[in-house]
Amino acid sequence: MILHRAIAIDGPAASGKSTLARILSKRLGLIMVNSGAMYRAVTWKVLRDGVDPTDRAAVVDALRGMELECGVDGLSSTVKVDGIDPGDELRSEEVNSNVSAVAAVPEVRECLVSLQRDFLKLGDVVMEGRDIGTVVFPETPYKIYMDADPSVREARREEVGEVDSVAARDHADSRRETAPLKIAEGAAILDTSGHTIETGVAAALDILRSQGFLMSTEDGSSPL
Ligand code: DC
Repeated sequence: MILHRAIAIDGPAASGKSTLARILSKRLGLIMVNSGAMYRAVTWKVLRDGVDPTDRAAVVDALRGMELECGVDGLSSTVKVDGIDPGDELRSEEVNSNVSAVAAVPEVRECLVSLQRDFLKLGDVVMEGRDIGTVVFPETPYKIYMDADPSVREARREEVGEVDSVAARDHADSRRETAPLKIAEGAAILDTSGHTIETGVAAALDILRSQGFLMSTEDGSSPL
């Protein structure tokens, strides 16, 4: 049973999901959940323990042995593994290149999806990831699928100095057997290639109005 409302934002790497989720969170007073950070946290721990991320049985073993703690700081989701917040290490090159393998393990997904659904007990959420509209909250009417040209997405990562093989991750995330990245039923597609942040947010607010999250007169600048 849905206790609060969820906006599901899915899309490939660097399509603008986090930026949009952060702005919607601020403007609409929603809890922002970065589900990718949770997959990254498990990957960080797997690597730290010297476990082979491509060895599914070993990853499941490692998962069973770790304590994952999800919470909220202000309006943003947090994740700790065995009491440690990995911080910037979540976005290291090593995590970037191994997270897709760990995220493809069904047991990892099952565990994290359950933790993701728990955020709805705390309030209305905007959650971004790859399977939010298809698996985590398939019943929510508020769904956006974000995309952008691969060249635009690679450039966005380079701009912030991050080493991230966006194309390889997208390939793996879209082709895995469990919960691959795809457009959820009922999702509105928002291609941000030609958008600035401002025009992209305006387009997202229009979508949320058409989906009934916002009243047609609301401008999305104050908490609901
Ligand atoms: O959103 P991100 O790029 O930080 O996500 C990192 C990886 O985690 C991504 O390559 C695939 C995985 N992921 C996933 O499988 N499902 C989600 N809901 C979110 C992320």
